[in-house]
Amino acid sequence: MQEARVAIIGAGHIGSALVRGFLETGRCKREHLMATIPSEEKAQQLREELGIQVESDNRKACGWARVIVFCVKPQVMASVLQEVADTVSEDKLVTSVVAGIPTQFIEGCLGKQVGVVRLMPNIAVLSRQGATGMCRGRFVRDEDVEYVRNLFSSVGMVMEVSEDLMDAVTGLSGTGPMYIFQVIEGLSDAGVKVGLSREKAYALAVQTVLGAALMARDLGEHPGQLKDLVTSPAGTAISALHLMERSGFRAILMDAVEEAARRSAELGKLHTLGSSD
Ligand SMILES: NC(=O)c1ccc[n+]([C@@H]2O[C@H](COP(=O)([O-])OP(=O)(O)OC[C@H]3O[C@@H](n4cnc5c(N)ncnc54)[C@H](OP(=O)(O)O)[C@@H]3O)[C@@H](O)[C@H]2O)c1
Repeated sequence: MQEARVAIIGAGHIGSALVRGFLETGRCKREHLMATIPSEEKAQQLREELGIQVESDNRKACGWARVIVFCVKPQVMASVLQEVADTVSEDKLVTSVVAGIPTQFIEGCLGKQVGVVRLMPNIAVLSRQGATGMCRGRFVRDEDVEYVRNLFSSVGMVMEVSEDLMDAVTGLSGTGPMYIFQVIEGLSDAGVKVGLSREKAYALAVQTVLGAALMARDLGEHPGQLKDLVTSPAGTAISALHLMERSGFRAILMDAVEEAARRSAELGKLHTLGSSD
């Protein structure tokens, strides 16, 4: 399985990021990767950018591969599954990063007892620092789940959860880089407001987020304890914290994660109703 052929169906933002990550870590060889995209013009462009075979024919890619990674939007997932169903035999391994679409729906559309693993990575796979939630379908073998864990571990951390938590994972870590990019941009703007150049403010903001994240991971302490390390009596940090608490900063994050999780569940319902299950 280490050398299995992998097809990325829908080489958009996350599909291309996965290809780049798998290639850069050496986890997949170029000749073992194929990607698809509907437009022949974009396929040509991606062939040059990614250095792998890129086709506009999903059936060809699914027939060629042993492992299939669906990376399309939820809106088109049902029609893509129906299009490729007869090229996906039971000895293949089907994976999907598509928000909201349950494993049982994928099994139903393919119409056979094929092994399915549902994943929710995030865009940080591009820097090999992704956070990926994963759950298994009814028919997948343990060794295939291990293969998927290993594949996605090459581009970051993988955590298995029960399927009913996949929308929660989507709201927190799947969508998560967006929250942090907002924080970085907000801190950079703030730096400019208090007199730093744009370039210096951005560099300081990025390193601050990176340093804080590494501390939280490496020290393994509660974030409240880490916050206490920074807030000296009558100092700058406690004054800023007071303002953040008054503005409901943490409540905004909770609302945002809850809203993204709700939308993931809604997309799943919207794009599976009336289709095979
Ligand atoms: N972006 C993320 O950070 C992220 C993270 C985790 C999971 N996801 C999930 O991954 C999925 C894709 O998200 P994305 O942000 O990568 O979207 P995206 O950039 O729009 O990528 C989707 C790709 O699928 C292609 N496509 C459309 N119809 C197709 C078809 N019939 N066959 C093959 N390819 C087709 C699109 O091509 P055209 O552009 O030419 O239409 C596009 O390149 C979503 O379900 C999302 O929830 C995304």
